[in-house]
Amino acid sequence: MAKFLVQKSDPLHGEVNISGAKNAVLPLMAAAILPEDVCTISDVPELRDVRVMKEILSSLGLRLSEIDKNVLEIDASGLNNYIANYELVRKMRASFLVMGPLLARTGKARVHLPGGCTIGARPIDLHLKGFKALGAEVVLKDNYVETTAPAGGLIGNSIYLDFPSVGATENIMMAAVLAKGSTYIINAAEEPEIVDLANFLNKMGARVKGAGTDQIKIEGVEKLHGASHTVIPDRIEAGTYMLAAAITRGEVLVHNVVPDHIRPITAKLRECGVDVEIGDDGMFVAGDRRELTSTDIKTLPYPGFPTDIQSPFMAFLTTVKGSSTVIETVFENRFMHVAELNRMGANIKIDGNRAKIQGAKKLEGAQVIATDLRAGAALAIAGLVAEGTTEISEIYHIERGYAHFIEKFRGLGANILKIDD
Ligand code: UD1
Repeated sequence: MAKFLVQKSDPLHGEVNISGAKNAVLPLMAAAILPEDVCTISDVPELRDVRVMKEILSSLGLRLSEIDKNVLEIDASGLNNYIANYELVRKMRASFLVMGPLLARTGKARVHLPGGCTIGARPIDLHLKGFKALGAEVVLKDNYVETTAPAGGLIGNSIYLDFPSVGATENIMMAAVLAKGSTYIINAAEEPEIVDLANFLNKMGARVKGAGTDQIKIEGVEKLHGASHTVIPDRIEAGTYMLAAAITRGEVLVHNVVPDHIRPITAKLRECGVDVEIGDDGMFVAGDRRELTSTDIKTLPYPGFPTDIQSPFMAFLTTVKGSSTVIETVFENRFMHVAELNRMGANIKIDGNRAKIQGAKKLEGAQVIATDLRAGAALAIAGLVAEGTTEISEIYHIERGYAHFIEKFRGLGANILKIDD
């Protein structure tokens, strides 16, 4: 199994370019199922999860071709299958996003229960609640879900989400664009990736309003046509490089970021004493201007502090003066990185969904496991300031969601490499 070896590094310096967002491109690719036509998506990041989604779409009869660097053309005119195969779906939770568009276009979808990071139970009840509200019959059997639309197609309805789930909002939106009448998603997720999907759907001829607020209205249309779209930049990748600059007390210019999308990260870094300047060409982050101090964090749905940055931020907090508290409210089991950081010499105690971090710890290299995608990134940036060598295994998690991770970090002067065991 391949591993990352991270050595204590000098403060990071230089510039890094952020790729298209993983969490935006996956639903955009699923949405390309909807029209009997050709869609083009630009700024597609080179990620393992994107490769899995490509394989799923191909298995459904879609034709995919890379027409230029990071430009993907998806022709859905040959859709000939409504079953998303277990071997592919189990690799990634986001594969469940093909359910909504398949159901909308063919009236039937069968998708195995999804895999992905093991961060809590991650149920799909809200997705299913939405499909049922649109009139679909939903059958749960032997580890797969099968949905069937009524004879005349899905019917618009009002759906209240008990939690503003990102995936459920996206899946319901994609199912509702071809339904008869209007659908309202109440307590919808407001993430930028939802807005990106709505923009793409509207370019195809859909009528989605209110994306980015907690109420989305979708007026169903008869048919959609092909469209071209560029993926928004990855705000979580941007946050990770900002934290890498901060933890090493370096200076990094992060290109291709939408400052509005990362406001909580910027605010919290500034509270700790990190300089963050927003310029025309990106975010300049300097961790070397003053002594850095602790802060408290509570993860929340957007526009609150993103759960996906919780673990890298915690790695950073182990290095600043004072004690910090991190509360995780989005996922129930997202502290798996804590045991690994403690193996590196951190002092973090967990009490339920609350972690108490005693800062200013001298970290030491250790053999650690990337227990999930963001945990892996947290361990890598901790490794940059730990004495000696940090050996990270199960790095396929990191490669699921970070494009050119090693190259980008090495470009900033990080001492990190990938080895095959
Ligand atoms: C998406 C992101 C992931 C991010 C998360 C929260 C993608 C591909 N992944 O995941 O990186 O960490 O948003 O910002 O976009 N829940 C239910 N029932 C459901 C669905 C979700 O109870 O039917 C719960 C989950 O268990 C979790 C919470 O809602 O506790 C948030 O999940 P959700 O917003 O759906 O996350 P994902 O879409 O899976």
